[in-house]
Amino acid sequence: CKDFSLCYWNPYWMLPSDVCGMNCFWEAAFRYSLKIEPPEKMHLAVVACGERLEETLTMLKSAIIFSIKPLQFHIFAEDQLHDSFKDRLDSWSFLQTFNYTLYPITFPSENAAEWKKLFKPCASQRLFLPLILKEVDSLLYVDTDILFLRPVDDIWSLLKKFNSTQIAAMAPEHEEPRIGWYNRFARHPYYGKTGVNSGVMLMNMTRMRRKYFKNDMTTVHLKWGDILMPLLKKYKLNITWGDQDLLNIMFFHNPESLFVFPCQWNYRPDHCIYGSNCQEAEDEGIFILHGNRGVYHDDKQPAFRAVYEALRNCSFEDNNIRSLLKPLELELQKTVHTYCGKIYKIFIKQLMKSIRDRYDRPPKER
Ligand SMILES: *[C@@H]1O[C@H](CO)[C@@H](O)[C@H](O)[C@H]1NC(C)=O
Ligand SMILES: *[C@@H]1O[C@H](CO)[C@@H](O)[C@H](O)[C@H]1NC(C)=O
Ligand SMILES: *[C@@H]1O[C@H](CO)[C@@H](O)[C@H](O)[C@H]1NC(C)=O
Ligand SMILES: *[C@@H]1O[C@H](CO)[C@@H](O)[C@H](O)[C@H]1NC(C)=O
Ligand SMILES: *[C@@H]1O[C@H](CO)[C@@H](O)[C@H](O)[C@H]1NC(C)=O
Repeated sequence: CKDFSLCYWNPYWMLPSDVCGMNCFWEAAFRYSLKIEPPEKMHLAVVACGERLEETLTMLKSAIIFSIKPLQFHIFAEDQLHDSFKDRLDSWSFLQTFNYTLYPITFPSENAAEWKKLFKPCASQRLFLPLILKEVDSLLYVDTDILFLRPVDDIWSLLKKFNSTQIAAMAPEHEEPRIGWYNRFARHPYYGKTGVNSGVMLMNMTRMRRKYFKNDMTTVHLKWGDILMPLLKKYKLNITWGDQDLLNIMFFHNPESLFVFPCQWNYRPDHCIYGSNCQEAEDEGIFILHGNRGVYHDDKQPAFRAVYEALRNCSFEDNNIRSLLKPLELELQKTVHTYCGKIYKIFIKQLMKSIRDRYDRPPKER
């Protein structure tokens, strides 16, 4: 576009045809449509109980740092954590890129006690999100021990890749069946070869609320809200990982409804503690880190802990984020005695790119 100011100040139909050409035409058209429709929001949900405040805030911070479109957080937390969440999130509100709502932990009144004690207190809250957040079309659910190493926008864009029968997306529980849990120990059906992990779960909740699910309890297909209780009753003595097992049973019977994304979107210690088995992460780096089994807080997997501490320690100032990499790399180099540390470069490959993209972005798009 030769004369950009002309192109910028005039709607596209007022532009002389010889001034700017096609790029300018699209630029002006795009700008015009943006004014009418507010940008789509990305909805992110998390369930925080017990000692998970700092970890959850670090996860939310990682989402805010790299994301482009505005974020709407839905935070389900025990009552005693609400004030602390509010204090910290309000102190970040100058960023104006996110909003949040705090909710109490709630279960259906009948059988509340039974849902509560399933696996970990509060864990099964997530099963009820499509029923509680009735107005929300799509949602990314994550565990508290997740760290985003690239914009939420990128995983959010997978929603558009769903085919007509898919309603949710998750990563496999294992890449390597020889160390898989479900295929060796489960006493219930599970999805695919090794099951799926529910720590990062992308949902089109409109579709989840509409669908009738095949099941092994009745020949009638049941809606999400009607299937959970009979499923728990039937399998409660056979399940180990609570709500994740119920999701595996559900998608075993409805495999056409699941979109499986690769392991670098939900990278766990299992992918490296006995040697690296997530090929996609080796090629492109880790996109979302999942420090399950408490590895951010003990010394068993120092590579995971180093990334967590670097993000926990950093503030929102540009310089601060940019200067996070060097000390982190030094920290990671100290972990090469572990299997995960040996491949420490994959822990920062995508992170470096995300930080670069953020600062190379022209200011008007920020
Ligand atoms: C957050 O909510 C306020 C009030 O409802 C609104 O004015 C603001 O635009 C929202 N911000 C984002 C990023 O969605
Ligand atoms: C629970 O596990 C036992 C032992 O493996 C098995 O016999 C039983 O059929 C399982 N129950 C269900 C509901 O699958
Ligand atoms: C979710 O599915 C509904 C119904 O098929 C569709 O209208 C909506 O656009 C989907 N949401 C997203 C974010 O793709
Ligand atoms: C959507 O993809 C799933 C998984 O690949 C597949 O099982 C299902 O048949 C597909 N649905 C349609 C309508 O193609
Ligand atoms: C983060 O801060 C803690 C305490 O403030 C400090 O001990 C630790 O070395 C820092 N870690 C990193 C990776 O910067």
